[in-house]
Amino acid sequence: MIFVTGGAGFIGANFVLDWLAQSQEGVINYDKLTYAGNLNNLVSLQNDQRYIFVQGDINDGDKVAELLEKYKPRAIVHFAAESHVDRSIHGPADFVATNINGTFSLLEATRAYWKNLPEDEKATFRFLHISTDEVYGTLSDEDPPFSETTAYAPNSPYSASKAASDHLVRAYHHTYGLPVLTTNCSNNYGPYHFPEKLIPLIITNARAGKDLPVYGDGKQIRDWLYVTDHCAAIRRVLESGRLGETYNVGGWNEQTNMSVVHTLCDLLDQLQPKTSGSYRDQIRHITDRPGHDRRYAIDARKIEKELGWKPAETFETGLRKTVAWYLANDTWVSQVQSGNYLKWVDLQYQGKTQDQKPATKEVA
Ligand code: NAD
Ligand code: TYD
Repeated sequence: MIFVTGGAGFIGANFVLDWLAQSQEGVINYDKLTYAGNLNNLVSLQNDQRYIFVQGDINDGDKVAELLEKYKPRAIVHFAAESHVDRSIHGPADFVATNINGTFSLLEATRAYWKNLPEDEKATFRFLHISTDEVYGTLSDEDPPFSETTAYAPNSPYSASKAASDHLVRAYHHTYGLPVLTTNCSNNYGPYHFPEKLIPLIITNARAGKDLPVYGDGKQIRDWLYVTDHCAAIRRVLESGRLGETYNVGGWNEQTNMSVVHTLCDLLDQLQPKTSGSYRDQIRHITDRPGHDRRYAIDARKIEKELGWKPAETFETGLRKTVAWYLANDTWVSQVQSGNYLKWVDLQYQGKTQDQKPATKEVA
């Protein structure tokens, strides 16, 4: 079996679904079910004997230790994290608690379990840590993309807490010999993406007739990757990654935020036209995010060369699938837009509109 943390979140759920669609090997999904964890993402597995869900916190070392002894997984894939930059600005404490202390606690429980495995199982065991490109900080337009040797320079409480967890994972390999692997991935998008992040927020706000909030000038750049491409990369690294190594995972797909928002509006105009006008009319520029990183870009040549992984989706095919998924899953959307979600939207967006004029004429 494999032991997955945070498997009820966006990437974790896609990974668990993908794993069980491709493999007979079982999965234990250990998840605290914070606001971002959603068992509706995994409802299709409710009668699947290969799948076990356990609600719990990665900070609960005794519980994790008990589960590791009980199920004897051959690998841990660690997704569990607080993951939203804007939330980390409003409340960094949860990010330190889960991303740093939680990863430390999970590493300790893993080390104790791994140490006592028989030699052959000890040799094949893997701890795969899922991280982000945001640990490298920000790029100017002229800089080359982030490679595995780019110095860490995190700028937000989120990225700083992920950077700290990456360092702990690395140290457990160098100090204790724990067989670890780390992936640093760019921005993901796709089904089951919680609508606090840019792409699902724009799709759901557009359809609800609400403002489409663009921070600052909207010329910030992200490198977007369709989530199932990320899942395939994780499987490859787990299978054949070199111990102690880090692998950058990206889509070779740099887009300004304005360009992403425009493309989404155009897709919606095609797939679900409004009675009059374009979804672009709903775009509003609002106060920028404090410390907003200007550009992220990933050099994904190492994983391609060593492990033969490349993204299968283009931005065009991936976004089209994503919009189609949201159009077909209204119930999922309305369930996640609960009272707590509305409170977050109020906290984050209330009173931040700078420019009431639609930005339809802006060229990305
Ligand atoms: P998410 O916020 O959608 O899901 C996080 C999951 O972790 C949720 O199910 C939540 O309930 C669970 N969780 C949170 N705290 C926990 C705790 N203390 N104990 C157990 N479970 C807990 O996040 P995501 O977007 O799916 O990201 C997954 C991982 O991938 C994170 O480590 C994130 O840093 C990394 N990552 C995300 C992106 C992206 O674009 N979303 C890009 C690169 C890397
Ligand atoms: P996000 O999806 O939060 O991912 P990250 O901050 O981890 O890259 O944001 C992606 C980009 O979109 C980022 O530059 C911030 C911007 N953004 C907006 O302009 N408006 C929004 O309402 C949100 C949530 C994000």
